[in-house]
Amino acid sequence: MDRRKFLTSLGATATASIAAAATLSEKADALEHAMSERLDRRVATPWACNLGGEGPDSGPWLMHHEPRLPAMPEAPTLLDFFRLRFAPAQHVLQSARLALKNGSSEKVVMACLLHDISVMNLVRTDHGYWAAQMVRPYVDEEVAWAIEKHQALRFFPDESVGYEYPKAYIRFFGEDYRPEPYIVEEYERAKNHKWYMTSREITINDLYSFEDDVHVEVDEFVDIIGRNFRQPKEGLGFDGSPVAHMWRSIIWPNNFL
Ligand SMILES: [Fe+2]
Ligand SMILES: [Fe+2]
Repeated sequence: MDRRKFLTSLGATATASIAAAATLSEKADALEHAMSERLDRRVATPWACNLGGEGPDSGPWLMHHEPRLPAMPEAPTLLDFFRLRFAPAQHVLQSARLALKNGSSEKVVMACLLHDISVMNLVRTDHGYWAAQMVRPYVDEEVAWAIEKHQALRFFPDESVGYEYPKAYIRFFGEDYRPEPYIVEEYERAKNHKWYMTSREITINDLYSFEDDVHVEVDEFVDIIGRNFRQPKEGLGFDGSPVAHMWRSIIWPNNFL
């Protein structure tokens, strides 16, 4: 951390409490407090289904059925997840509608529909990789690949298709933010791949899909999902696939164990 930059960025209260501390050790404590407060504000905590809060603090721990969430059918489909867990899911639905409007292929529409289901419902960190893993057994490999690579591609402009570095990222991460080397390497590999443009299209539709006054229902995509998502007959979460636990974690996000 750049200490000078950090100190000039502290609020008046924190600066005053450091200045008022009588001893060097008290000053160090006040500084540490200010630093940890800053850290608390900046670190996103994991969530599942945005419920927040805790389970009951005594008695039997909550397992499986979560009364604050709608019950899921025994063999849930992707549509059930959209309606009963992901909803309102406007960002991914808007981006899929935009892809349709732009004349994209069904694979791109499907990729847009699924690209952020992890950040919305399971894990924020490395969300492109998590989402790709969740859907890989059920979609064309090109769709999973494109979802995975959008994690890296969104940080890199592509003038040939008018994609610029998102202005929101300057607000989110600061002007000096640079992606980690593993992200840069992913981008370098992806940009020469035959499916590059499929993933790039996700990032293009991503940028314009945060509209408050646009409402999209998943029903618009029932046919495309039917043709592009291999729904397991046992239901997502119960088909014994290597990713079934991820879907179960969204069905029952607050199990004690
Ligand atoms: Fe994303
Ligand atoms: Fe997105």
